[in-house]
Amino acid sequence: MNNTRPLRIALTKGRLEEKTVSLFESKGIDCSALRDKGRKLVFPITFGDITAEVILVKPLDVITYVEHGMCDIGVVGKDTIMEHGKSFYEIADLGFGRCRMAFAGKKEYAENPSLFFDSYEKKIIATKFENIARGYFAKNNTDVDIIKIEGSVETAPVLGFAHGIVDIVETGTTLKENGLEVIDTICDISARVIVNIAAMKMRKAEIDAFADLLNI
Ligand code: PRP
Repeated sequence: MNNTRPLRIALTKGRLEEKTVSLFESKGIDCSALRDKGRKLVFPITFGDITAEVILVKPLDVITYVEHGMCDIGVVGKDTIMEHGKSFYEIADLGFGRCRMAFAGKKEYAENPSLFFDSYEKKIIATKFENIARGYFAKNNTDVDIIKIEGSVETAPVLGFAHGIVDIVETGTTLKENGLEVIDTICDISARVIVNIAAMKMRKAEIDAFADLLNI
């Protein structure tokens, strides 16, 4: 662990970005560099006498950077942690970015899940979250074929290509507008703070200061 570089924090760009930056600002962290991003990739922030660097990256990259120690701290959704996370500390639930991971499909399955779970026909599930889906159906003793779809997963059951999906549901609008319903909620999702295992020891004072500032 290189202690000469600033503490480095990986934030998930996109949906969680605005809420995370607002949280930082509400705790008095100067995020002006993050508010005037341009094409820059690394943004200095300061809190107390600590200087840190923020990088804005895709969810899976937050995990990769924190696991490999390129970043000390990360803010990322529990969905990405469950799907891809292996070794780091998860130290806090930030309470925003709330949604749920759900198994969803056509109304007939939502109204009578045994039509899905008790039939001998092999079912196809479309999802971006293969590991979560595999775990869920194994727990329910249901043999399914899982097909990886990168986005707009709802298309698969609508086109008759899959019997169901495992996906994030926030407002439920996407499901509703495509004639689909939640069959079962797998788990609740929100933004979490993760910390590199070595950094937790080597940069404890800075990480504690950051956690204290955020009240986490
Ligand atoms: C997510 C998710 C659903 C949608 C759910 O997709 O995959 O499609 O949001 O939100 P809702 O319940 O509020 O309608 P996202 O917009 O992240 O894009 P993606 O389909 O490319 O993953």
